[in-house]
Amino acid sequence: METTFKTLLVYLFIANLVVNAFDPFSTIYSYFHESCDPKWVQFNATGLQADLKSQLFGQHLASRIILKAVTGFMNNNPQKPLVLSLHGWTGTGKNFASKLIANNIYKEGMDSSFVHLFVSGLHFPDNDKVETYKSQLQHWIRGHVTNCAHSMFIFDEMDKMHPGLIDSIKPFLDYYDKLDGVSYRKAIFIFLSNAGGESITHTTLDFWKSGKDREELELEDVEIPLSLSVFNNKNSGLWHTCLIDKNLVDFFVPFLPLEFRHVVQCAMAEMKARGLSPDPDVAYKVASEFIYFPKADQVFSIKGCKTIKSKLDYYI
Ligand SMILES: Nc1ncnc2c1ncn2[C@@H]1O[C@H](COP(=O)(O)OP(=O)(O)OP(=O)(O)O)[C@@H](O)[C@H]1O
Ligand SMILES: [Mg+2]
Repeated sequence: METTFKTLLVYLFIANLVVNAFDPFSTIYSYFHESCDPKWVQFNATGLQADLKSQLFGQHLASRIILKAVTGFMNNNPQKPLVLSLHGWTGTGKNFASKLIANNIYKEGMDSSFVHLFVSGLHFPDNDKVETYKSQLQHWIRGHVTNCAHSMFIFDEMDKMHPGLIDSIKPFLDYYDKLDGVSYRKAIFIFLSNAGGESITHTTLDFWKSGKDREELELEDVEIPLSLSVFNNKNSGLWHTCLIDKNLVDFFVPFLPLEFRHVVQCAMAEMKARGLSPDPDVAYKVASEFIYFPKADQVFSIKGCKTIKSKLDYYI
């Protein structure tokens, strides 16, 4: 009897050890449910490099800057959050590049609960409600970063955002150890805008006219005209804020206008994404449907690669 009791105790002890070592419920839960740990949030530098190279067309400057900025930030102990400001003509890949960054940090990519996209016109449409938006936005950011230090915030249509609202996120971007007990140092902020798109286009067109290879275009070539047009432009929301004078933006990332050959590449990529074998003839036809400017030279696509999906529907 005593032996049976002892055996039972031993069994219970082992069972307890096994249950503690392998709690099926929490293991299964964390297996399926995204959490802020390396299983779900882990930077893949080689993946980002490969994606930028193979998927983001015609953007050698943006690819280079993004890779350097994100890799440097993720592999070091940052003193402040990473702040990238992406500028350029419509349809040149600003949202697309943000998606590639998210895909290589979060297992769930843009669907991650740690990636937050704000679109000015959609989320903050009413200028009379700026005060309400300000406190909501600060509250959201604080809550999300408390939940996961590696949160990513993408602000689209930044040039349409009320300057007061931009100012309200400024404290989060600065060099503070902690704000009210929360550290923002590991967060990433990405601002998207068309501001400076015309200036970037001018510079790229001049370069094209001089017969030089687009890939020879260096950051210095676009940086000065870009800063003059964005930051000295009174119609630009960014102009009104001291994001710039306080050096809170770490990198300005120019997106160049896309040429016919890039639109062809976009069409080929879209066919591949749909599981079709890419047909150069179809891609060429689709790209020919796009309108190019300036009128005399027909170099750059007015819509970049935007609407490629619907244009392709017509051909296949
Ligand atoms: N440089 C590019 N390389 C590959 N695909 C691109 C590129 N630019 C645009 N695309 C394609 O076109 C679609 C629209 O581009 P995206 O939304 O990134 O443009 P955007 O720069 O954000 O434009 P907007 O300023 O109008 O918001 C992308 O989802 C992608 O499929
Ligand atoms: Mg966009």
